[in-house]
Amino acid sequence: MKPVRKAVFPVAGFGTRFLPATKSVPKELLPVVDRPLIQYAVDEALAAGIEQMIFVTGRSKHAIEDYFDRAFEVESDLLSKEKFDLLEALSGTRLAPGQAAFVRQQEMAGLGHAVWCARHLVGDEPFAVLLADELLWNPASPCLRQMRETYDAKGGNVIAVLEVPEAHTQRYGIVDPGRVEGAVTEVKAVVEKPRAGTAPSRLAAVGRYILQPEVMRILDAGERGAGGEIQLTDAMAKLIGRQPFHAQTFAGVRYDCGDKLGFLQANIALALERPDMGPHLREWLGTI
Ligand code: UTP
Repeated sequence: MKPVRKAVFPVAGFGTRFLPATKSVPKELLPVVDRPLIQYAVDEALAAGIEQMIFVTGRSKHAIEDYFDRAFEVESDLLSKEKFDLLEALSGTRLAPGQAAFVRQQEMAGLGHAVWCARHLVGDEPFAVLLADELLWNPASPCLRQMRETYDAKGGNVIAVLEVPEAHTQRYGIVDPGRVEGAVTEVKAVVEKPRAGTAPSRLAAVGRYILQPEVMRILDAGERGAGGEIQLTDAMAKLIGRQPFHAQTFAGVRYDCGDKLGFLQANIALALERPDMGPHLREWLGTI
């Protein structure tokens, strides 16, 4: 079984739910406490042993490339002032030379299309996809690492899921479940945004995937699905039955940071966990 060495980060979306903040700042650079969303996703990938990060960007997203580059002026200034703690804060932003690659999606034709834009960089090996606006929080056992353990045992394709309320199933890709073994559920089908009352379960895909390269061959057809977009879910669904396909129920907390409320909740929850600011924030929250 080939190891998962590459991760694709589709970051080309407009982030319209976050306008006007996202008019000129990419959604993926919005900070949760003091780190941008994309940093959490990259750290999660590194913790799962990913070696190559492939970012699918778009126009007005060049700030993401800059973020993973050296910041010579700031760094030499901090060095000359001996502000080593601040220099240390930048260490996570430095990927090894050649470890990050960037490819552009010229039109917002959907998540499937964004992933397909990375096909030449992915090549003929399994790969992970991480949506950075889904902050999946479990520092002790990050989501992609949980999925990778399942991949190592089962092979094929593995997607992360969480149970959502029945009333919310129409917002997600929903799994039609087969055999269940603890946190791992066999996937019989995935339905994108099922109409109210028709969802086969409450297990919703939450923005992490380990996929076999054959999904790119399916995406080659450029078939449009819901909303006239090229849907990753539709392409994935065609692998079911041909290859092992499992859903990993994520043990941890999910914050939908593409949504304003989820983003605020993530900021508060993660700040409360921080020893440098948690106690002060808790005290202040008690006064309002
Ligand atoms: P979303 O549905 O959250 O779209 O895409 P969005 O544009 O980011 O945000 P809203 O809904 O307008 O507020 C899910 C993920 O897929 C990426 C987005 O960047 C996001 O990470 N995506 C989506 C692309 O890269 N390209 C696309 O064509 C569509």
